[in-house]
Amino acid sequence: MYARIADICREPEKFLGKRIKVGGWTRTVRDGKALVFVELHDGSYFKTLQVVIEPESLSLTGEDEGEARETARSRLCLNEAQKLGAGACLTVAGVLAESPGAKQPFELKAEEIILEGSCGADYPLQKKRHSLEFLRTITHLRPRANTFSAVFRVRSLASYAIHKFFAERGFVYVHTPILTASDCEGAGEMFQATTLKPGDVPMIDGAPDYSKDFFGKWAGLTVSGQLAVEAYASAFRDVYAFGPTFRAENSNTTTHAAEFWMLEPEIAFADLDDAQALAEEMLKFLIGYALENAKDEMEFLNAHIDDGLLSRLNAALESEFAHISYGEAVELLQKSGEPFEYPAKWGLPLQTAHERYLTEQIFGKPVFVRDYPREIKSFYMRQNDDGKTAAAADLLAPGIGELIGGSQREERLDRLLDNMRQKNIDPADYGWYADLRRFGTVKHAGFGLGFERFVMYLTGIKNIRDVIPFPRTANSMSI
Ligand code: 4AD
Ligand code: MG
Repeated sequence: MYARIADICREPEKFLGKRIKVGGWTRTVRDGKALVFVELHDGSYFKTLQVVIEPESLSLTGEDEGEARETARSRLCLNEAQKLGAGACLTVAGVLAESPGAKQPFELKAEEIILEGSCGADYPLQKKRHSLEFLRTITHLRPRANTFSAVFRVRSLASYAIHKFFAERGFVYVHTPILTASDCEGAGEMFQATTLKPGDVPMIDGAPDYSKDFFGKWAGLTVSGQLAVEAYASAFRDVYAFGPTFRAENSNTTTHAAEFWMLEPEIAFADLDDAQALAEEMLKFLIGYALENAKDEMEFLNAHIDDGLLSRLNAALESEFAHISYGEAVELLQKSGEPFEYPAKWGLPLQTAHERYLTEQIFGKPVFVRDYPREIKSFYMRQNDDGKTAAAADLLAPGIGELIGGSQREERLDRLLDNMRQKNIDPADYGWYADLRRFGTVKHAGFGLGFERFVMYLTGIKNIRDVIPFPRTANSMSI
């Protein structure tokens, strides 16, 4: 049995004085005068375990030097261990001993070292510090670098914390479909899913005949699970979807990906205020969870990626998020005197530059903006009594811009149909959705959190490509 470095570091007293076996990859190998020091990383813990090789204690010292090696897996003698570089995979057996005064108060005194996998001199992570841009070109190797070790452990913890938060509050987790015929956002940004062969597409009246396609109709990859999850909120009251979503947006920005994860809670017997309160409570829980359960990673990110990270997250935890209307936001931006490339104007969407100015310069904390003009928002959003605006609220966060998009849903059938007409949506395509209003309609609201944008917010990472294991963006797919 291999011991995990995480267990050794958390409870060394259980291992001290005992002979143990660990497996890991070399981060650095330092050849001292009489000793060799290996920093070994096994992926279970952010920090490495120091392995010390003393010539007299390595049982094989000199013994099989020069011996022909027939397999990749071989026992190392001292002078071979001395030549190891970064990235080699080792099994080390030895005794865990105290080492007072050292970085870690214990170290593994090696008695036997097996080289499981050697690592060539062309290994790209030999050098200690690489730019994030360079590491983006080796997405299959970058999880071994410290920054990504921190980011992807925080990402994993954040997904667990999402399930924990909702499970503790009695929410039902719903797996909404990835293949779908509904364009939730109506923005025409869907990838098509088809088995028709290019060049051999059956046509009818000059247009592709999708009745001959796999599903007998046009299909695509979902841009949001919301419409489907609404059906479950009308049955289970409090639900959430959390899964991959896809957008064929050809925008080359630091916050847009073609494939990303979205968390979508949906609550019945609830209005927009309730949805905003849920979003704030949830974000604070998730931030608190990461600070508590990924201390080493968060400290590393604060030291190496963004030195304002911990103070910003702690400030968000202690603050009440700000609330303004879209109309107030436009006025604040117009009065700011800031020379925006596209000035803010009532009736137009807020640009990322506007969003960041509001949350970073004016409020210095997350801010909800609500009641956007109906024309620029989706058909499912509830009409406000003024007839001009919709009960929609976006949450803007420092360093990110839009983190959450949410709304109260239009539960009145006549108004829903009115919204569809205004946006040239054929109600026949959304008959099932209208049914939810015809059969026991209920006041309900929800929101979508862009999970990668949230991981950026949590880690201080500035580019969405660096918080997705294998990012997909326009013109780029690494593996
Ligand atoms: O604001 P959006 O488009 O809202 C919806 O899709 C709603 N149906 C959600 C709901 O109410 N259930 O998207 C929600 C969030 C955005 O606020 C943003 O954080 C993220 O998803 N997002 C993206 N993240 C990465 N890359 C993209 N291309 C994104 N588009 C949206
Ligand atoms: Mg949005």
